Amino acid sequence: MAYEMIELEKKEGVGVITFNRPKALNALCDQLVDELGSALSDLEEDSNIKVAVLTGGEKAFAAGADIKEMKDKTYPETYLEDFITKGWEQVSKFRKPIIAGVQGFALGGGNEVAMMCDFIIAGESAKFGQPEITLGIIPGAGGTQRLTRAVGKAKAMDLCLTGRMMDAEEAERAGLVSRVVSDDALMEEVLKTASKMAKMSLPTLMMAKEAVNKAFETTLKEGVMFERRLFQSTFATQDQKEGMAAFAEKRKPDFQDK
Ligand code: CAA
Repeated sequence: MAYEMIELEKKEGVGVITFNRPKALNALCDQLVDELGSALSDLEEDSNIKVAVLTGGEKAFAAGADIKEMKDKTYPETYLEDFITKGWEQVSKFRKPIIAGVQGFALGGGNEVAMMCDFIIAGESAKFGQPEITLGIIPGAGGTQRLTRAVGKAKAMDLCLTGRMMDAEEAERAGLVSRVVSDDALMEEVLKTASKMAKMSLPTLMMAKEAVNKAFETTLKEGVMFERRLFQSTFATQDQKEGMAAFAEKRKPDFQDK
């Protein structure tokens, strides 16, 4: 597929998707979201790719769903097309690890897509928010749920009810982002992190992701049991033998994703 609103690059096990609609601050219109879905399917199916990165531009990661495109939609239309599901949820269903690298605005659907990724690394200019309330709507791609799980009720209410933005420092303090670096260093940090992960065993990375995500879906007892069974199953992989042999032999492991 030829992309117009995103770029897709692949290098040494890492697939980088860059939103490329700068004039509209990467507003997530239907075409962009379709292209995102298609790029994610490509990376999911490509056995040479172990880790994905989702990023935007200097001024915006993404300033939300496209307001101009959706402003005249009627309720039956939104309901019948299950608006803000198709394409969008592909990010949360992506099975390989995916990192969001955020500079500038990550608002509304932009913040929601970033939160669907496994973790967010932010440049110091990043601004996160759920401004939907200022448009007479509420978040529709998981904002009220994922933000609350990430930062707790007080800040989630504060952001969703006032529409105010949170800067990178506040977002890190609140637990929304895993690290903050200078804008200049953002992509280097994100790619270094992705490359480090791409040297691990892919099935084991995927199991670790699945286990952490389970924490949001279940009780502690069930979650710990799920983790225990996955942990035990790693002993059926060649990569577990390789990882532990390499440690004992004081060398770097060479994982084969088997
Ligand atoms: N949809 C459509 N177009 C958008 C957009 C959006 N979400 N955000 C920005 N743009 C467009 C602007 O209309 C403008 O286009 P023109 O040059 O053609 O006028 C261009 O991008 C540049 O934007 P601004 O001139 O507004 O830039 P700014 O620096 O003055 O302000 C901003 C930046 C504060 C991010 C402002 O653009 C803004 O408030 N954007 C909307 C943010 C928002 O409300 N997002 C939530 C959308 S709803 C949603 O996402 C629902 C959901 O849960 C999925």
